[in-house]
Amino acid sequence: MAITTCIFDAYGTLFDVAAAARLAADEPGQAALAAVWPRLAEDWRRKQLEYTWLRAVMGRHADFWTVTGDALDWALEANGLADPKLRARLLALYRELAAYPEVPSMLAALKARGLMTAILSNGSPPMLAAAVASAGIGGFLDDVLSVESVGVFKPDARVYGLVTDRFRCARDAVLFVSSNGWDAAAAAGYGFRTAWVNRAGVPVDRLPARPHHILPDLTMIPDLACP
Ligand code: LAC
Repeated sequence: MAITTCIFDAYGTLFDVAAAARLAADEPGQAALAAVWPRLAEDWRRKQLEYTWLRAVMGRHADFWTVTGDALDWALEANGLADPKLRARLLALYRELAAYPEVPSMLAALKARGLMTAILSNGSPPMLAAAVASAGIGGFLDDVLSVESVGVFKPDARVYGLVTDRFRCARDAVLFVSSNGWDAAAAAGYGFRTAWVNRAGVPVDRLPARPHHILPDLTMIPDLACP
């Protein structure tokens, strides 16, 4: 079936999640952070995702902003950097993450070809609105869908169901794009066509379904969606 609807994961896919720690490390007085920022960024992201999965399994949902703060607290302590001012600065930068450079032209190309476009993210509506606004990509998106509508995190199938409910389309008319291998795998299992953006060149996750396409970045998405 032809693709009518292109759906994007947000954090790590459109927005560069390492940017907050990288930018803070460049600021005056941040020598201790500068020495460890890649490790801090990795710990922060890993714990953020672990907490989403664990809360989903436990049936103890909290919004993604809360989870992001909890994960940052763990990462700061693990790296010997626990400090309320640094915590506040990193969270402020996280609210306004930069988009990857190819994102605006890629989204513009999809709209020029007549596709519907949206974000489907664990992010809470306020944090997604802030990131979309600061990246200046709102004009290229038909909607921003948040897991808060169903109160459970990815990869619960109810999250992917938000897309077919909103766009009234068949599952295989959706191209779902994520930099998270587990998210692309779960979306493929749900019945979407999927593209995994594997910027880091890591192995394919051993999960019940596999992504249909594996790409190094987002530049090929318009050709994939609309050949
Ligand atoms: C999201 C996370 C998984 O945006 O990156 O949903």
